[in-house]
Amino acid sequence: MENSKNGAMEASPRQFVSVLNCIDLASPDIHNSVSLVKQACLDSGFFYVINHGISQEFMDEVFQQSKRFFDLPLSEKMKLLRNKKHRGYTPVLDEHLDPVNQKHGDFKEGYYIGVEVPDDNPDAQKPFFGPNVWPSSDILPGWRETMEKYHQEALEVAKAVARLIALSLSLEAGYFDGEEMLGKPIATLRLLHYEGTVSDPAKGIYGAGAHSDFGLMTLLATDDICGLQICKNKDAMPQIWEFVAPLKGAFIVNLGDMLERWSNCIFRSTLHRVLSNDQERYSIPFFVEPNHDCVVECLPTCQSEENPPKFPPIKCETYMLQRYKETHADLSSYQK
Ligand code: OGA
Ligand code: NI
Repeated sequence: MENSKNGAMEASPRQFVSVLNCIDLASPDIHNSVSLVKQACLDSGFFYVINHGISQEFMDEVFQQSKRFFDLPLSEKMKLLRNKKHRGYTPVLDEHLDPVNQKHGDFKEGYYIGVEVPDDNPDAQKPFFGPNVWPSSDILPGWRETMEKYHQEALEVAKAVARLIALSLSLEAGYFDGEEMLGKPIATLRLLHYEGTVSDPAKGIYGAGAHSDFGLMTLLATDDICGLQICKNKDAMPQIWEFVAPLKGAFIVNLGDMLERWSNCIFRSTLHRVLSNDQERYSIPFFVEPNHDCVVECLPTCQSEENPPKFPPIKCETYMLQRYKETHADLSSYQK
């Protein structure tokens, strides 16, 4: 998929592959980057990020390690079943993102890795902090180290993108990237594996049902198998779905629901889903949400007398707990 030189091309509604802006994080022309981010956020809430500083070799290693995990027998993976803190393995059908249109849960398996906080640290009391669940190093040597390093590097990329988003909302560059918001963020890495159950929207079968992500933004790394679709206008009937093509070495960045609330719907979180074909597909979203006690409320630059705040303020952890509860199976449904 080629992007136009300045990335500013519009996708026509009849086109099946969306053309997204492409932001070069190494570009010294910040003004241009901000204007591309702003345009993307107003148009689709999705854009590519390249030259982000994570090497291709390391990305390949992360994907290889992810595959090694999913290749384990189900009985081994079930020993690492996710806990109450949303860490660990999520089997096929565990998540149900779009109950209205989906007959079953999502045909994907996953693995959640959050910020590592040891049990003896007071922060481990917070709902989304705690120790991770790790596969034994006898079975998967080096796995934990790879994932911890990737978590750290992805967070740095997210902070760089958060600075551009702040500027595109006429805020100071460090508005999101400061102690109060991203000092101790809920940042969750999720390994995903779509095992090749062919999606059939008419029958309510999806790799991942239509949803928008919960937080500030998501950095999505994918392999080269197509599957992700976006719907730019969630209120249109019928909904128009466009594929987002994988772009080697790039992150696909999308805005989450908290940013929609912060920006008073000036920037929208865009509906997306995954249609699987009979090929296996691996992807790795990195979900970025602020500190647990950060209050998400309408930004000063996004309200006026004619345009008052559309949402009441809400604490990040309250919002997150609500959203996870709505979308994940009850843990008691698994027999240990
Ligand atoms: C998600 C998501 C897309 C993909 O996990 O929230 O949208 O390509 N994933 O796996
Ligand atoms: Ni998503």
